[in-house]
Parts: sequence; structure tokens; C-alpha cells
Amino acid sequence: MEQLGSKAEVRQAIAEARREDKRIALVPTMGALHDGHLSLVHAARQRADYVAVSVFVNPTQFGEAEDFAAYPRDLARDLDLLGAEGVDLAFTPSPEVMYAPGADVTIEPGRLGTVLEGAVRSGHFRGVCTIVTKLLSITGPDLAFFGEKDYQQLVLVRRMVRDLDLPVKVVGAPTVRECDGLAISSRNAHLSAEERAAAPVLYRALRSAETLALGGERDAAVLEDAMRSTVESEPVMTLDYAAVVDAASLEPSGELGPKPARALIAARIGRTRLIDNLSLEVG
Ligand code: PAF
Repeated sequence: MEQLGSKAEVRQAIAEARREDKRIALVPTMGALHDGHLSLVHAARQRADYVAVSVFVNPTQFGEAEDFAAYPRDLARDLDLLGAEGVDLAFTPSPEVMYAPGADVTIEPGRLGTVLEGAVRSGHFRGVCTIVTKLLSITGPDLAFFGEKDYQQLVLVRRMVRDLDLPVKVVGAPTVRECDGLAISSRNAHLSAEERAAAPVLYRALRSAETLALGGERDAAVLEDAMRSTVESEPVMTLDYAAVVDAASLEPSGELGPKPARALIAARIGRTRLIDNLSLEVG
């Protein structure tokens, strides 16, 4: 595996792979790699001949109240894992490489960036859209892989690629979960033993909505109430939102119909904020 930190080197390595007619995949990450990221790498290896993984903790997607400095970083371990997975290229730029001094032009995410997570994390999705566009521009992949764990991010990146005619196919990969249902996330490392024991309530809440939907309940408000009361059974959790939305537009569902719906949930537990989501099959 090659590890490269400069944009010019990356463009050159990828141009070489293109000359060999290789199908190129990008897996963008912020490092602190876990099984969720590795499942994206597996999916990328199945669909492409050359897999690039970017490891960059993007300062512009952190809000003022969010601790960019405390985000977990362990590049040596990340590189070991990526090497063992047969990744071809690890792109590990510094913030100075990624952002020119005074960089000021950004990608505006539109309505999808203002709801749910966007309502709580002002500016977050502008930072995400901007860095993803830059990473796509530098690597020029055929395919780019994103986890369903960050469902709103996945939907927004798909929309951005469509609306800006970016020449890449966005591929989503299912959330990887611990045995008790907790979605794997770098933030889980911040949980105390007591918080970790309570955290799977988010998945139970999503499952309670799914069970109701499978049983024929069509009223989104009833599903949202069920999620809310499930989370309230864990006093250490503070719910930010429990929402049932159209899976593509993220608009409130009202009544579940033939179009795919998604349940999304976010809660704070101690100083950690967790999010999760589940597809609602109404068959
Ligand atoms: O999902 C993430 O880790 C980040 O938001 C991403 C897509 C790598 C952009 O910094």
C-alpha cells in the first residue's frame, strides 16, 4: 500500500491506475478506523480494482461546541488496518494540504443540510459537502463509498453528486452493529461502562418503530412516540430527535405509504452524542 500526503502525488498514482484500466474506488474517512469503515473497504474491494482510502479529520465539519482537537486519531493503527485489508492507496493529507490559506469557497448543502442533524449541527454539512467534493476532485474515483450509519450524510452526498453532475457513483453500505445492536462508531469509545450499557436503547427504539410498521401502523407520529418512550426508559439518555421521514427527501412522512421511509434517532448520553437509523419496510 502506498501512503501519500500530497494532492499531486495522489493524482499521479490514480492516473497510473487509470492507464491500467482499473476501476477506482474512494472510501473517505476521518480515521480512527473500526469495523464499520472496514466493511466499506470490503465493499469497495469487491466492486473496484484500485481502492483509495482518505484519512483526514476535517476541521470545517466540526461546530464551535464540538471538539475537533479531541477527535480520536491513531494514524499508525489506521495504516496497519488498511494495509492488511489490501488497500492500494492511503491519502493522509495535512489540513494545510487540504485547505489553501484563506480558503473561502464552500458547497452549500441546501435544505437537506438544515434538517435533523443539520438543525443541531450548524455548518456541519457545509463542511462535509465541501471536503467530499474536494476529495472527489483530487481522486476522481468511479465509485465512492459511504456508510448508512450517517444516513443523512449519505442522502446529501447522493443529492450533491446528482445536482452538481459529479462524475461518480455513490454507494451506500449497511451499518455494522455490536451484538447488542449498538451501531459501531468512533464515538462509542467515549462512553463510560454505564453509558455503554444504556446506548443500545437507540437501536431498540428504532426496532420498536419497525415492529409497529411491520404490524400495519401507518401513522408516523405513532412510530415516533414509540421511539421516544423507548429512549425515555433509559434516564441517562436525552433525546434530540426521533423522526420518521421519507427515505430520499428526509421530509416528515406523515402517513407511511408505498415510498421507502426511514426512522432516524439522535440522543445525548453524558458528553457523547449518538445517532442511528433504520429502514422501515412496510411491505
Ligand atoms: O463520515 C465521515 O467520516 C466524514 O463525514 C467524511 C465523509 C469522511 C467527510 O469528512
